[in-house]
Formats: sequence, structure tokens, C-alpha cells
Amino acid sequence: MQKYRLTILALLFISLSLLLSGCAEEAQTVQSAITIPEDEVDPKVWGQKFPNHYDSYLKNSERTKGYSKYRSDSEDRLSPWPFQFILADGWGMGVEYNEPNGHTDMLKDQLKVDARRKGSGGVCLTCKTPYAPKLKEEMGEDYFKKPYNEVHARIPKKDQELGVACIDCHDPSTMNLRISRWTLKEGLKAIGKDPDKLTRQEMRTLACAQCHVTYSISKNKEGKSIGVKFPWANGKWGNITIEGIIKQIQDENLREWKHRITGQKLGHVRHPEFELFSAPGSVHWAANVACADCHMPYERVGSQKISSHRWESPFKNEALYAVSQPDRGLAETTGDKYPGPCKS
Ligand code: HEC
Ligand code: HEC
Ligand code: HEC
Repeated sequence: MQKYRLTILALLFISLSLLLSGCAEEAQTVQSAITIPEDEVDPKVWGQKFPNHYDSYLKNSERTKGYSKYRSDSEDRLSPWPFQFILADGWGMGVEYNEPNGHTDMLKDQLKVDARRKGSGGVCLTCKTPYAPKLKEEMGEDYFKKPYNEVHARIPKKDQELGVACIDCHDPSTMNLRISRWTLKEGLKAIGKDPDKLTRQEMRTLACAQCHVTYSISKNKEGKSIGVKFPWANGKWGNITIEGIIKQIQDENLREWKHRITGQKLGHVRHPEFELFSAPGSVHWAANVACADCHMPYERVGSQKISSHRWESPFKNEALYAVSQPDRGLAETTGDKYPGPCKS
């Protein structure tokens, strides 16, 4: 009798664990069975398959302070340094220039900014909407040239405030990283790098270099925009210099604006994060480190390990910060005030 009881208990146990593990497998299958359509723009749809990544991505809309001097709160960046109104007189950057609010808000922020910042036309949407490649394809030169609002109105209604989206960096069928912007593909060709032969680690930087670079807007005789390019012609992979960029701006007359006070026509070097990061002398580039290594650290969500999709100053990542500076208290944030010359 005792023997039978044990066997029955064992059988019960086995069938119960089969049932439980069966359930777990089921959930797994259901999750991965979702296919994301090839041209799906809506991150919510991608989020059905990757809910943890979607949650992390949504955090880009939260305002943060943390330990960094870089804020994410659209604070005015001209008034603390009033000389900028004079240096950029005649140019949108001298009208309004604010701290960003994070990737998910980039298009909303652009819609709110003073209209004179968007005088260049539809071209300004190139790094702000996942529809940019499609609009350029459909409209040709008009995409660059036509007024900002007119080109913006061609984005489907429901996505007219949508900022960076999964499709900007991922192929939905394989989830491999991919380059969605023609600008970077052309830029890579200019420095002798084949955009179709890139390693995974290179892609972990180049996904960001689609937008975190300097660029020049080519203009026709009437001053209308007719294209956008990365001025990298004098550079090489791992050696794009600011001197080379300035030389190209001069050689090709990529002078986009006229300084009102001096009457001087000038070019504009924007935010060359990729260029400076990959320039000679960059310790981290030499060590094969990528943007994502610092800006998308792995984090645990339940039993899963994911790359963080909250793009911000790594100093704001509390888990990382606790490891690097365990003694520093939360009260000592530097995020409250700019350390600028006009700090009161
Ligand atoms: C499609 C263009 C695009 C891509 C791709 C992109 N960024 Fe950005 N990034 C932006 C824009 C635009 C802003 C400013 C956001 C705003 O205006 O609200 C920004 C802001 C940031 C900020 C500051 C955020 C804040 O809250 O202050 C960081 C950090 C950043 N990006 C890092 C990255 C990293 C790392 C990658 C690659 C994994 C990347 N970005 C890819 C366009 C892009
Ligand atoms: C070795 C680590 C490291 C690498 C690699 C790195 N960054 Fe950063 N980045 C930082 C740190 C740290 C800060 C913030 C400094 C602070 O908060 O004072 C920062 C700041 C930034 C900011 C400003 C953040 C803000 O809130 O305004 C942007 C944008 C940015 N990085 C983009 C990039 C891009 C694009 C790449 C690759 C081309 C890259 N970074 C590579 C560590 C790194
Ligand atoms: C600015 C570019 C960018 C955007 C936008 C982006 N990702 Fe990623 N994603 C990355 C990078 C970089 C990696 C790391 C890839 C690697 O290591 O090979 C990654 C990795 C992943 C992975 C692989 C697992 C992991 O965590 O490393 C998944 C799944 C993923 N992303 C889902 C999403 C989803 C869903 C969205 C939209 C809500 C999204 N991503 C938006 C750049 C991006």
C-alpha cells in the first residue's frame, strides 16, 4: 500500500510539473508567434512582442534630473548665455534653443519650437519622424524644400507626434539593427565604408550615428533647401575631423545662413557626437566600445535581461551610478542648475 501511495504521489508530481512547464512554454510560444509587419511604424505594435523593451522606451517621456548637468526638461539654453543671441543673430538657433525632452518627444518638441527654427522646410523632419525616408522617396526634392508644416501634414494623422520608433533602428523580421536613413548610408560611402558590410559592434554605434552627427543642408540659388548631407568627404572611417568638415563647407559653399550684424555668410557645425567619438585619440573608439555600451546598459526585467531603451546621460542611470560612485548621496545632484557664466 505504502509503495502504491508513493507511486501515485510521484505520478501526480510529474503530471503537475509537466502541466506547469507546459503552461510556461505556451506563453513563450504565444509571445514569439506575433509577427511585426515589414513597414510597421507604431512602437505599440512592436511592444506586443517585446513588452519590456517597449516599457523601457516609454520611459524616455519621463522628465529626469539625476546626477548629470544635462537636463531633459526643455529648459531655455540661450538666456543663461545671452551672447548667443548676438553670435547667432539671423539664424534659428539664436531665436530659441532648449534642452531636449527625450527621444519619444522629439517631434512634439519640434512642433512647439518657434517657427523661425523650421525655416529650412521639410528637411528638418529628417531626424524627427520615422516617416522621413518614405516622404523623401515620395516627394523627391520637394521633401527638402516645401514648408515644414506642409510636409509634416503628410504624415498619417495618428503619428504626427511620434518621435523615434523601433523601425528607425530594427528590421522587424530579424530584429537586427539596420540603417533607415539614406543620409548615413551616403556618409559612410563618402568615407570609404560599405554600409552593407558592418559588424554588430559597429551597428551599435551607427544606429545612433543616423542622427547624432553634424550635417549640412544644401541650398539652391533662391536659398531653398535641396538636400541634406554629412560633410565627411575629407574624412575616413575613424578619422573624420572638424577641420575636414569646415574645409568641405568652404569648398562646396555649404553656407546656410547670413549673420545679420556682420553680413557674413556662414556654415553650421551641429552635434558631431559620432565624429568626435570616432576621431583619432578617442580611447573608447580605440577599445572598440560602442554608443550602446554606455547609453543602453543591460538591465534586468523580471527574469529577462534587456538592453535599456531609455537613452539619456548614463549618469542618470541609478544602477550604474551606484556601482561607480557608491558613496555619493542622492541629495548631491548636479542636475538642478547649469554651471554657466550667468548662474545667479
Ligand atoms: C532618428 C534620430 C535619432 C536616433 C537614431 C538617435 N537619436 Fe538620440 N536624439 C535625437 C534627437 C532629435 C534628440 C533630442 C530630443 C528632443 O528634441 O526632445 C536626441 C537626444 C538624445 C539624448 C539626450 C536625451 C535627453 O533626455 O536629454 C541622448 C543621450 C541620446 N539622444 C542618445 C542616443 C543614442 C545612444 C542613440 C543610439 C542608440 C540615439 N540617441 C539615436 C535623435 C536621434
Ligand atoms: C564610454 C561611455 C560613452 C560612450 C561610448 C558614449 N557616451 Fe555619450 N555620454 C556618456 C556620458 C557619461 C555622458 C553624460 C555626461 C554627463 O551627464 O555629464 C554622455 C552624454 C551624451 C549625450 C548628452 C546627454 C544629454 O542628456 O544631453 C549625448 C547626446 C550622447 N552622449 C550621445 C552619444 C553617442 C551618439 C555616442 C556614440 C557615437 C556616445 N554618446 C558614446 C558616455 C558615453
Ligand atoms: C535608436 C535605435 C533603437 C531604437 C529606436 C530601438 N532600438 Fe532596440 N536595440 C537597439 C540597440 C543598439 C540594441 C542592441 C543590439 C545588439 O546588441 O546587437 C537593441 C536591442 C533590441 C532587442 C534585442 C535584445 C536586447 O535587449 O538587446 C530588442 C528585442 C529590441 N531592441 C526591441 C526594440 C523595440 C521593441 C523598440 C521600439 C519600442 C526598439 N527596440 C527601438 C537600438 C534601438
